[in-house]
Amino acid sequence: MYTQPEKRTGAEKLTLASFTKMKAAGEKIACLTAYDASFAALLDRAGVDVVLVGDTLGMVVQGHASTVPVTVDDVIYHLRLVARGLTRAYLIGDMPFLSYVDVPTALRNAGRMMQEGGARMVKLEGTGAQAEIVAALAANGMPVCAHLGLRPQAVEKLSGFKVQGRGKPAARQMLKDALALEQAGADIILLELIPQALAAKITAKVKVPVIGIGAGPGVDGQILVLYDMLDITPGRRPKFARNFMAGAGSPAAAVEAYVKAVKDKSYPAPEYCFD
Ligand code: KIV
Repeated sequence: MYTQPEKRTGAEKLTLASFTKMKAAGEKIACLTAYDASFAALLDRAGVDVVLVGDTLGMVVQGHASTVPVTVDDVIYHLRLVARGLTRAYLIGDMPFLSYVDVPTALRNAGRMMQEGGARMVKLEGTGAQAEIVAALAANGMPVCAHLGLRPQAVEKLSGFKVQGRGKPAARQMLKDALALEQAGADIILLELIPQALAAKITAKVKVPVIGIGAGPGVDGQILVLYDMLDITPGRRPKFARNFMAGAGSPAAAVEAYVKAVKDKSYPAPEYCFD
């Protein structure tokens, strides 16, 4: 307790180009959320490629029932903490509910997250309707991750945390949205809680890396909420979230096991996927 979190040394900082190369080489991208400097340093040392300060902080850190109450200031605060722990991993900041309702609002908030928080990319939840926002961010030099499928900020509209994209019309629409967001300038697509076949199809159709959560093995990388995979989140764990603490002995060993399982493609096994 009397020392700062021990940071990784000697590792080169990952860049956006690193992920394009990893996709081309078939190397899976290992991503996790984090909300503070100690866990950020632990994830960085364990070889996690991407760290997301997700608005899940509203649920797992702040104790809310959804991500809706999270503010831009909250995300910036946690970005600053996490940025202090990272050496190699790429830092993404999540744009909270209503922080990207129009182009000026999105530019202002994404700009603050990068300038004040140290985010190297911003993530927003969207459909094709957000293409204009993505294009404006991209045109102003801001890398963007577009989050499709289950969009937790729309949980009330979607009537709960449910699998999205089931059935042909919904699947067709999601593919169309992913292509529109890529065309608008999205650098990474994130797919949450969708059938594995649809995720694999979208991954094959877009050129940018695709990260999945509850989207099966046919994507370019995986992400989980740190507190879910460390078995900290109280209550029922989502079906797709494997408990990596089981048998691991320590959080560091659990995160190392996660990185290994993503890279060697043993996670997600069929029991963690949806059809
Ligand atoms: O907010 C978050 O942590 C996320 C992940 C679930 C991908 O968006």
